Amino acid sequence: MTDAAKTATPAAAQGALQAVRGMNDILPDEAPLWLRLEDTARRVFEQYGYRFLRMPIVEPTPLFVRGIGEATDVVEKEMYTFEDKLSGESLTLRPEATAGIVRAAIQNNLTYERPQRVWTHGPMFRHERPQKGRYRQFHQLDVEALGFAGPEVDAEQIVLLARLWDALGLADSVTLKINSIGDPADRRAYREALTAYFLQHFDALDDDSKRRLSTNPLRILDSKNPEMQSLIEGAPRMLEQLGTEARAHFDGLRKWLDLAGLVYEIDTRLVRGLDYYNRSVFEWVTDRLGAQGTVAGGGRYDGLYESLGGKPTPACGFAAGMERLVLLLRETGKTAALAPLAYLVHQGDAAAALAWRLAETLRDAGYDTVLHAGGGSMKSQMKKADASGARFAFILAEDEARNRSVTVKWLREIGREQQTVPMDGLSAWLAERALSV
Ligand code: HAM
Repeated sequence: MTDAAKTATPAAAQGALQAVRGMNDILPDEAPLWLRLEDTARRVFEQYGYRFLRMPIVEPTPLFVRGIGEATDVVEKEMYTFEDKLSGESLTLRPEATAGIVRAAIQNNLTYERPQRVWTHGPMFRHERPQKGRYRQFHQLDVEALGFAGPEVDAEQIVLLARLWDALGLADSVTLKINSIGDPADRRAYREALTAYFLQHFDALDDDSKRRLSTNPLRILDSKNPEMQSLIEGAPRMLEQLGTEARAHFDGLRKWLDLAGLVYEIDTRLVRGLDYYNRSVFEWVTDRLGAQGTVAGGGRYDGLYESLGGKPTPACGFAAGMERLVLLLRETGKTAALAPLAYLVHQGDAAAALAWRLAETLRDAGYDTVLHAGGGSMKSQMKKADASGARFAFILAEDEARNRSVTVKWLREIGREQQTVPMDGLSAWLAERALSV
């Protein structure tokens, strides 16, 4: 922050308009990290054959009510729902991507001939209480495999995420949890067992859980209330009550994950907050972001097509929270490659013209170069070079202009001598040092 900005009256105090609470700008300082995340994710998803699609941000409200489930937090209290002024139709800003993708797949017969691997990214909207890692407009990377029944795609998506963490330098910061919540019949039986258990301990339930006991007792397991934890600990476990098919599916998932050499924890309490799941559920979590530690979550949803009016189609997917990943990249210092390779400072008219041409030549060769603009002393230009995060300052003052050379200063490596390099040979000099394009 500049000194001027520090002492300036906040814009809000001057009556300037503000963004909606919990909905943030992504400013140029932060954007490169977002773009790196998007580019890396796209490369990894494409490696596995996932193809991009994009759906509308607004959908008819019943899509989410039927898709996500009436008794979920998202549908009960977090949706931005409004009436279309002309048609009177109830519309909702999408709180997640899966329901919209399945709607698009049914409407466009996407999975009529063959299964499809697809992915998307973009803003989602939930009216939650904003805090670090939790926003009202947030962004997801969302990946779905539509029309695949076997556990190998569940495993594929988990492995794909492991590859993404690797590519982002986050592999040491996240861990994997998996569980199976069985098929609907298993879950009905489990629900009864769970209801019976919690009814026996009704007085120990908090208000939220008492309410959930009749609407969705599985969600009680998700309670963060510390006073409920020992009661939850003693509850019957879904994993012990899986039917034969769900059991085989879970064993299959574990086999494929083991084959990939992935380490995971089986978390029998993992239930996820949306109602469409069956069988596999998984989350990648970090302990570096406080309460909002889930960076990606998903699972199988074999019944969603049917609840949205489509033909029965097995499917599996996940979404990763981009704000949380950006926070995690910052938290772990994985912000490299955000800076240009070089910052070109220059003094005097002759040097300015040469610097202009040199900057273009360097860019032609693939080297990201910022050309100083706005004049100023060498000292102030060097300060800007440093602040840009560039690895090199290339200096072109009167002497250099006369000699057609450049003084190269290493800005990040302490103790490296500055060097004089002929202007024409600068790209080659960079290439020799195998500096990345
Ligand atoms: P979800 O668990 O609701 O699942 O969200 C997935 C991820 O989005 C979370 O793990 C978190 O990283 C991020 N996220 C959710 N809410 C917020 C928020 N308010 N602020 C910031 N980040 C947030 C789904 O949305 C499913 N559609 C995932 C899925 C895809 N399942 C199958 N296919």
